[in-house]
Formats: sequence, structure tokens, C-alpha cells
Amino acid sequence: MEERKPLLEIKDLKKYFDKSRGLFTRKKRILTAVDGINFSIYKGETFGLVGESGCGKSTTGRTIVKLYKPTGGQILFDGVDLATIKERDMLPYRRKIQMIFQDPYASLNSRMTVTDIIAEGIETHKIFSGHENPELAKQERIYELLESVGLKKEHASRYPHEFSGGQRQRIGIARALAVDPELIICDEPISALDVSIQAQVVNMLEDFQKERGLTYLFIAHDLSMVKYISDRIGVMYIGKMMEISSSDELYDKPLHPYTKALLSSIPVPDPSNSNKGSRIVLEGDVPSPINPKPGCRFASRCSYSNMIIKNNNGIFDEPLVGKVSYDIIIDPNVEAGALKVVVNAGEEITSDIAKEIVELGLKEIKVRKPKCFDTNPELIEILKDHFTACHYIKEINKDIL
Ligand SMILES: Nc1ncnc2c1ncn2[C@@H]1O[C@H](COP(=O)(O)OP(=O)(O)OP(=O)(O)O)[C@@H](O)[C@H]1O
Ligand code: SF4
Ligand SMILES: [Mg+2]
Repeated sequence: MEERKPLLEIKDLKKYFDKSRGLFTRKKRILTAVDGINFSIYKGETFGLVGESGCGKSTTGRTIVKLYKPTGGQILFDGVDLATIKERDMLPYRRKIQMIFQDPYASLNSRMTVTDIIAEGIETHKIFSGHENPELAKQERIYELLESVGLKKEHASRYPHEFSGGQRQRIGIARALAVDPELIICDEPISALDVSIQAQVVNMLEDFQKERGLTYLFIAHDLSMVKYISDRIGVMYIGKMMEISSSDELYDKPLHPYTKALLSSIPVPDPSNSNKGSRIVLEGDVPSPINPKPGCRFASRCSYSNMIIKNNNGIFDEPLVGKVSYDIIIDPNVEAGALKVVVNAGEEITSDIAKEIVELGLKEIKVRKPKCFDTNPELIEILKDHFTACHYIKEINKDIL
């Protein structure tokens, strides 16, 4: 069988924003919006990119189309690295890769008519330059496009404010299609739309994909929608890729603790669905992407990043000295109003602290698993075409791996 070829290969892509400008601080504040991610998209497929708000999905899309200059890594389109290409050589790729934006209200220039909006790309890329009558061909193409996205000829001379959100997103789709792209980055194209319109727009995108052999990077935070549209899915968390697999496998056999938590938070209408009743609540704050701590980004919220050491009649199962406490421990014997901290969350247990803990007679103590907090897990292939970034993936999924 012929091996599938990726149209887009993202290797160790980074996009950082310097947040120290204007602040009187010595230490730089670097926001690691995208921090070394890897994934490929094959020709003709839809790759869904999901994750909570602020995890770097839009930044990934905007960096691929070079709206942002990458901080590091490679963006290989048909084998050509767009990350390092000269600006003047970028023009053909600005045609081949199009983007549909998250906010249909902000993404269309309010002073331009629909014709001008759609014509811009056609003119920049000289689509009809060899044509007998380029003006006529352009106008015909615009009418054709408007019709194919469910709008009318008469709409061509109107301005964006005269349209609803759903209609504006259709204009955005027509603008992207106007230059015959190969890859379209759809950045939450339906999240600002009414539920009744969402399915129409998704169906339309799917029809165009079939007709024109398009490849999609489809960004969403609603996991239920990406399952329907994607062949494969990547799950992001604070600038890192946590899991990639086929859409079906991700839903049937999620391996990463973060994916499991995300999936269990989807409301399930089907009473036979196995997610029912096993909702995992994500605890802890989402850590800041500014100057992130070493270790796994999910460690502060992951239920597997700690272990419990039990006290057996005054002797703990494992030595406490050198371990790092997961929680804050307060001395319960000190009178109300006064507060004595025995050990802080994230503090190393010294021999003095260990002695105090033994004296307190605690039945158990929760400590950090060092790897989770010290070393960032690499994304590795754990099952065929199924990748995860977690040090303990086998232990967590021992019944299936
Ligand atoms: N132009 C920018 N300058 C500075 N910081 C930015 C910029 N764009 C994004 N960020 C920051 O980068 C991080 C990732 O943002 P991004 O918009 O990519 O997230 P997202 O996953 O698309 O979120 P959402 O689901 O809300 O759209 C956020 O912390 C955001 O504040
Ligand atoms: S590496 Fe540790 S913190 Fe990260 S997901 Fe795996 S178990 Fe959780
Ligand atoms: Mg976004």
C-alpha cells in the first residue's frame, strides 16, 4: 500500500511572546503560547486541534500561516520549511494555506464590500491574470462563490455589518476558497454561531472538502464537534501537545489523563455511554504559560502526579526525607486562630519536618512524583498512530496497554 504523505509537518514549533516589555523587571516574562509541538496533517484529512481556552490553538494556526513569526521549529508544507523561508518566497504559500477566523465580526474589514473582501486574494495572487477578461472572470468567480456558500449575487455590493454572524462566516469561507487553497485552517469557525447554524456551516465545509480535495486543520474547544468532523485529533494543554490519535480511538480509548478529564466533562445524552457517572473533575488552577515551571504542564491538576505514603504504626512505608510534599500540612494541635504550617505544598521534606510529621501521627502523606514535576514528558507513539506525552501512561492504562 502506498504510504500516506503529510501535506503539513509541524516539528518542535514554538511561539513565545515577550511580556516583560514596559515592566520594570529584571527577569524576562516569556509567555510560551506554543512550546515545541509536533504533528502532521495528511493530504485530504481533517485534523482537529482541541484544548481549553488559552492553550495555544489559535497561536498555532496563526504561526502556521505566518501571521506570527515562529520562535523556533519547522513548518514543513509539502517538504518546504515555511518557518525559515524568505518573505518574497512565501507568496505562493499564502495562497495555498488559507485561514477562517474565530470571530466573524472582527475578521472582515467593515469598510470593504463583500466583492472587495473576496476579490483581495484573487488580485494579490493574480488568479485570472492569463484570462481574456480578468475583471469579468473575477466577478463571475465571486458570484459563483457566494452562491456556493449559500449567499446571493445581490449580497456582493453590501458591507459586513449588513449580515448576521452565520452569513459573515460564509463570506469568510468564500474569501478562503477564492484562491483555490490546499490547506484551510479553520479557527473555531462555528463557535460564535447559533447552534442551528453550526451544523449547516460544518456540512458546507465537509462538502467543499470532498469536492476540492481540501485538507483542514480544524480548531475547537468543543470536543463533541471535532469528533464529528475530524479524522485525527490533537489535544493541547498550555502550549504542549498531550495526545494525538484517530478521532475514534481518542473517544473510545483516551489514554492521557488530561484527555480523559476533558472527555468526561462532555455532557452525555446517551444513557448507554460509558462516560456516564464517571465524571472527572479537573481540580487545581490552570498554571500560567508565563515562565512555566519544569516538568509536565498538567502536573498541578493531574490526579496521577502524586503518591500516597502510608503510616504503619509510626513507620512510613517509604522514607519521607527528600520527598516533596504535594499538599500543605497544618499542625492540627495548634489552637484556633494561630496557624502552624508543618510543610508547604511543593516544599522538600527535611529530617526535621519528617520528625514532626511522624509526631503528628498522620495516617498518610501525599508526595509529588518527582518525574511529573521535574521533567517534561516527550510525545511518543504508545500504540500504532497513537501518541501521548506522559511519564506514567502505561501504569495509568495498565488494563489496556
Ligand atoms: N498576540 C499576542 N500577544 C501576546 N500574547 C498572546 C498573543 N496571542 C495569544 N497570546 C497568548 O497566548 C496564549 C495562547 O492564546 P491562544 O489565543 O492561542 O489560545 P486559544 O487556545 O486559541 O484560546 P481560545 O480557545 O480562547 O481561542 C494565551 O495566554 C494568550 O493570552
Ligand atoms: S506526566 Fe505525570 S503529571 Fe503529566 S500527565 Fe503523566 S502522570 Fe500526569
Ligand atoms: Mg483561539
